[in-house]
Formats: sequence, structure tokens, C-alpha cells
Amino acid sequence: DLAKEIKYIEELFTVDTAKLKQITDHFVKELEKGLSVEGGSIPMNPTWVMGFPTGHETGTFLALDMGGTNLRVCQVTLTDQQSEFDIIQSKYRIPPPLKTGTAEELFEYIADCLLQFIQTHHDDLSQIGRMPLGFTFSYPATQNYIDEGILQRWTKGFDIEGVEGKNVVPMFEAALARRGVPIRLAALINDTTGTLIASAYTDPKMKIGCIFGTGCNAAYMEDCGSIPKLAHLNLPPETPMAINCEWGAFDNEHKVLPRTPYDITIDEDSPRPGQQAFEKMIAGLYLGEIFRLTLVDLHDNHDRRVFVGQDITKLRKPYTLDTSFLSAIEEDSDENLSDIAGLFQNKLNITPNKAERILIKRLAELIGTRAARLSACGVAAICKKKGYKECHVGADGSVFNKYPHFKERGAQALREILDWGEKKDPKEEDPIEILAAEDGSGVGAALIAALTLERVQKGN
Ligand code: BG6
Ligand code: GLC
Repeated sequence: DLAKEIKYIEELFTVDTAKLKQITDHFVKELEKGLSVEGGSIPMNPTWVMGFPTGHETGTFLALDMGGTNLRVCQVTLTDQQSEFDIIQSKYRIPPPLKTGTAEELFEYIADCLLQFIQTHHDDLSQIGRMPLGFTFSYPATQNYIDEGILQRWTKGFDIEGVEGKNVVPMFEAALARRGVPIRLAALINDTTGTLIASAYTDPKMKIGCIFGTGCNAAYMEDCGSIPKLAHLNLPPETPMAINCEWGAFDNEHKVLPRTPYDITIDEDSPRPGQQAFEKMIAGLYLGEIFRLTLVDLHDNHDRRVFVGQDITKLRKPYTLDTSFLSAIEEDSDENLSDIAGLFQNKLNITPNKAERILIKRLAELIGTRAARLSACGVAAICKKKGYKECHVGADGSVFNKYPHFKERGAQALREILDWGEKKDPKEEDPIEILAAEDGSGVGAALIAALTLERVQKGN
């Protein structure tokens, strides 16, 4: 049996309540630091989304959603029925080589997808010319205006030269102009801001928008009086301003996060070492890699009792396992863990024995649980900073929607951090609930475009 190895990984990956609380307290300070003039690791980017929708927004909008894995084009019609909308959409997978190619290739690809969508759904390009577009560009960007986005740094494994430090909007518009597409970009938004706005549109209790997907991040509504770095603009202190936290960068100084040797390797081998410390322990892009590195180490070291005599060449290839592999492992409830045997056989050409299958399952559980528990620290920190005792949090992304038990594990961690005590009735709502959000990058982008145009028309 592999009890010793299991004990080793349990000690490495378990984050207890006291640690969660310590992380949360540090997180609150770091959120504040990000809003200060001197700044900190967490960017806390003002987004120029200055208020929640009323539910009476109307019009037809285009939304382009460039996440870490997919590109989606949507056409959203907001009707004057309170909080109702129609949506048509197409989804394209971003070809992985584009993530490390040239800026031109990337923006040409995006423009081509948009053009293809328009040609499918419209006979007349002039109809489109009047449709404002919300561009969901889900990377940290400095915005002096809502239709600007100066890329601070690539995240989620993207590494395209010549874009960091530049405004991506002209690059995108140039690619559109080359195709003769007469589109007006009304707003550049982050997926978390879109999630926040779209969620609040249908549920006024929603105060935070989160993404737990390829990357991990959140947005919430601040008041300008609490944003010292905007003080020079003399905005009325009570003016609302959505902040895209970019909390993936939390603890880049490595003061509180319980990093394992595997987290350190992931960071060092990534295109941006030293960046996104929090994200690299939580997000979908990395969970499979944490798992893979742990297994390779258990095979090569630690008394060499794991996969003895097996050829682990396939397992040695970086980023070979994605989060869906871990999900499938966690879903194996068969007493014999036969799905795990099949997964390892087919994907890795490894035949794990029963003790190894038990270890594999436990490792996936530990990594998935750690991700959910650490995520809860970010949510608790925003709630503490804002003094929210009760609210809803809208969440989207593949990890939140598809990873087994992610929601329950996150909820359990919130319960521990915020000292709610045990639930008396399992059906009872928690004071702060993380719920599946509306489509933030379709509906949210459309709403933000609508709110922006309204503001422009009013002249502020
Ligand atoms: C999608 C949103 O649903 O979730 C995107 O439309 C967002 O805007 C994405 O970036 C995040 O999830 P993932 O798993 O695709 O990174
Ligand atoms: C990364 C990006 C951030 C985005 C998140 C979720 O953290 O930097 O902008 O919101 O991934 O997609």
C-alpha cells in the first residue's frame, strides 16, 4: 500500500482553516494596496463601468469574447422587458499556436471569426455598422477610457511579442478595417466585469463576478472615494466604479500561499515566472500540470514505489493532462476505480495497480479541493473589505461549471473562513453564496456597451 505517499501529498496540499483565514486577511490588505497610489501586486484595474444596469436597457449589440481557450461571437438583443434578452452565438477554439504567435496573426484570426459570424447572420454589412461591439479581452489591461485596453502582461500561458504595454484596440480595429468591416468598438471589458454586470442584471443581490476557468479572477463595484489612485480625477466619492481585481496576481511575493515544490516548478517554467502566483495554484490551466508533476516526482523519488517498472515517458510531457482529466478521475466512484485504470491506460500508457489508483484519486481530490478552498479566500476578502455580510457572487468558467464538488468545497471553505458554524438544515442558504452566473461575456458585454452609450449620450 502507498499510505506513506498518501500522507505526504495530504500534508502538502491540505490548507486548514487557520491558513485560509491568514490568507484572507492578507488578501484584504493586498486589495487595498492595489487601489492605492503606490499600488501593489494585485492590479485592481478601474474599468469605467460605472454602475449596474436598471433592467431597462435596450438595443442590439455584438459581443466578442476572447478568453483563454475559446473565442465566441454573440449578437445580443436587449428587449424592453425587464431583464430579458435574445442571443445568437458562434464559438471557435483559439488554435493553441496563436497563443505564442504574432499579434497580427491573433487579431487577424479574431477578425476572421467575427466576419464569418456576420456573413452567416446578416446580408447587409451596413446593418452591422451601426451595432456597437463589446470586446471581452480577458487579460489585465490599463484603461484610461472604456474603449482602451493597454495590456499590462499576458496571462494564461499567452506569450505574444509586441503587445504588452500597448493598446490592443487599434490592433483589433486595424484587422477589421482590412476586411472592410464597419464596426464600432464601444467598450473593452474583462470577463469578470461582464459576469458581475450580467449577474446583477437578473439578480440584484449579486455583488461580485468571478471566473474560475482557464484563469481565475474577480470584479466588484467600488466607490471612487475608496480608490486613492483615481483621486486626481476628482470624481464624486460616491460614484460607483467596477474594479477588475486581477487577483490571480495575489501574493506574487510568496508571503502566505502554501506553495509546493510543484507550484514552484510551474511558475519557473511558465512564460511569466513570478507572475500570477494565486492563479497558478487554482486555475484550470494548471491543475493537470500540478497533478502530473506530483506523480512524476513520486515515481522518480520518494523511495520509488509508484509506477514501478512502468514506462512513464508520456507522463513526462509538460501540460499533457488538462483539468478534464482530473475531473474524470474525481468522478470515478466505482469501488475498483476502473475508470481511472482506463484513463491512465489510454492517455498515458500506464497500468496503475489498485494502491496506485487510490493514490491517483486522492491526489486529484487534494488538488481540486485546494483550488476551491483558496478561491474562497479571494471571495471572502472582497466581502470583508466591502463589509458584505450577505450577498450573491456570480461565477463562470469551466472549473466552476464542470469540476466535481468545486462549488461545495468553496462553500465549505467560506463557512470556515467567515465562522458561520455548521448548517442546521442542508437546504438553508448561506449568507454569501457563489452561484452560476449569466453569460457575462455575451449579455454582460452588451449591457456594458449599452450603459456606455447611455453615458456618452448624457455627456458624462
Ligand atoms: C466563458 C465566458 O463562459 O467562461 C468567458 O464567456 C470566460 O468570457 C470563460 O473567459 C472562462 O472560462 P474558461 O474555462 O473558458 O477559461
Ligand atoms: C486571467 C486574466 C484575467 C481573467 C482571468 C479569467 O487571470 O488575467 O483578466 O479575468 O484569467 O479568465
